[in-house]
Amino acid sequence: MAEFIAQCEIDAQKDIMNLIKSKNNGENKLACVHTLGCVQNENDSERIRGMLLEMGYTMCEEEKKADVVIFNTCAVRENAELKVFGFIGALKNVKAKRPRMIIGICGCMMQQQYVVDKIKKTYKHVDMIFGTHTIHRFPKILHSAMQQKTVDVEDSEGYIAENIHHLRGSSVVASVSIMYGCNNFCTYCIVPYVRGRERSRRPADILAEVEGLALQGYKEVTLIGQNVNSYVGYDDIADFADLIESISKIEGIERIRFVSSHPKDFSDKLIDTIAGNKKICIQIHLPFQAGSNKVLKDMNRKYTKEQYLSLIERIKTKIPNVALSSDIIVGFPTETNEDFADTVDVVKKIGFDMLYTFIYSRRSGTPAAEINPVLTEDEIKHNFEELLKVQSKIVYDINAKLQGSVVSVLVEGESKTNPNLLTGRTESGKIVNFSADRATIGTIIDVKITHVATWSLTGEIYK
Ligand code: 5AD
Ligand code: SF4
Repeated sequence: MAEFIAQCEIDAQKDIMNLIKSKNNGENKLACVHTLGCVQNENDSERIRGMLLEMGYTMCEEEKKADVVIFNTCAVRENAELKVFGFIGALKNVKAKRPRMIIGICGCMMQQQYVVDKIKKTYKHVDMIFGTHTIHRFPKILHSAMQQKTVDVEDSEGYIAENIHHLRGSSVVASVSIMYGCNNFCTYCIVPYVRGRERSRRPADILAEVEGLALQGYKEVTLIGQNVNSYVGYDDIADFADLIESISKIEGIERIRFVSSHPKDFSDKLIDTIAGNKKICIQIHLPFQAGSNKVLKDMNRKYTKEQYLSLIERIKTKIPNVALSSDIIVGFPTETNEDFADTVDVVKKIGFDMLYTFIYSRRSGTPAAEINPVLTEDEIKHNFEELLKVQSKIVYDINAKLQGSVVSVLVEGESKTNPNLLTGRTESGKIVNFSADRATIGTIIDVKITHVATWSLTGEIYK
């Protein structure tokens, strides 16, 4: 059973927020929150921004102008960590000129003691450090950092904090956390150590959040968690399939997506639920990580290549036109070139709409970090590039079939690359850019695909 932060503790934070707000009154204070990492981190950043807003800050993108700068960090791979150190290093001179500016670092990296020690020693201009389990205490941490350097990283298994408002980046689509943490301990992965054990939110709290979003006009929710299929509820909302079914009954919510799933927990009941419910998008992200049974065993993934292929077969049979995506790691320490060939074989057999491919990154404290790699860095890079080549041809072929077709798109807003175009997603999660009246934002429209490229689709309104 999950443990919850007492409401009185959340209320105490509200008092501190009011205190800071009264100090900020009329001062036009700016805050900037940068996020690295996954959807969970982005969701946490929305809660931090929500609290900053309540404290009277206006959000900005430029850290140089901000009174409070926060980096919400990711520990999954080393390059994300290096980026953070680069960002903080670059702020040293800015802070020297504006000593009252407050710099904070939070998120998964801060759940590792060696990182906290390094920041305290090397980056003395950082004012506050907090972890993934102490976000709900952010107002107190900020208030304290205004007087002295503050570190609040708790090495707990993790509690759930309800009733913290998000400042969301979109008014059409929103992410909703349904569970936190991970119990799987894949041997390469740092997540279970930095995010704690699995714990599920109460069904009533999740439903209330989605109902609130529907009332505000949101049309799509993505249910998020490290492994949403491990969701544990109670009574008639006992598991993830029940939860998603209940959410689909909320009026106003027209589309539901979810991420991420573990193949070992993807039940036939869930496949049937998706197949039988029009609101649940036909898009499934199902990381398989590696194709070789030996590597899967060494990774502690708890399924074989054959089991994964058979699961995908069941999904494809019951959910026609389903768009599949996956995560793959290339260069796990025990992976040989023959093992890698199994990965390519799975990719070719399945034909994923999207792949997130990563070169293995050694994470200190995980079991795989103790194994010497079989392949050289050059061999791993070569395999990685081969995988990208195989996949880009598959994606292009899948997209090419969409040329001239009419797809149903939820219009999300302006395109990031061209403000003259609007952007939205198909049911299968593909991004489409098109020109249309801004009044269509927040509605589902038919778009005819006029141009396909490997990574983007362009279209026009179909009347
Ligand atoms: N190295 C490379 N990729 C990793 N991932 C997790 N840990 C590592 C690591 N140590 C990838 C997995 C996971 C995704 C979120 O990140 O593919 O599914
Ligand atoms: Fe990491 Fe494995 Fe948990 Fe995913 S399931 S977060 S890869 S330990």
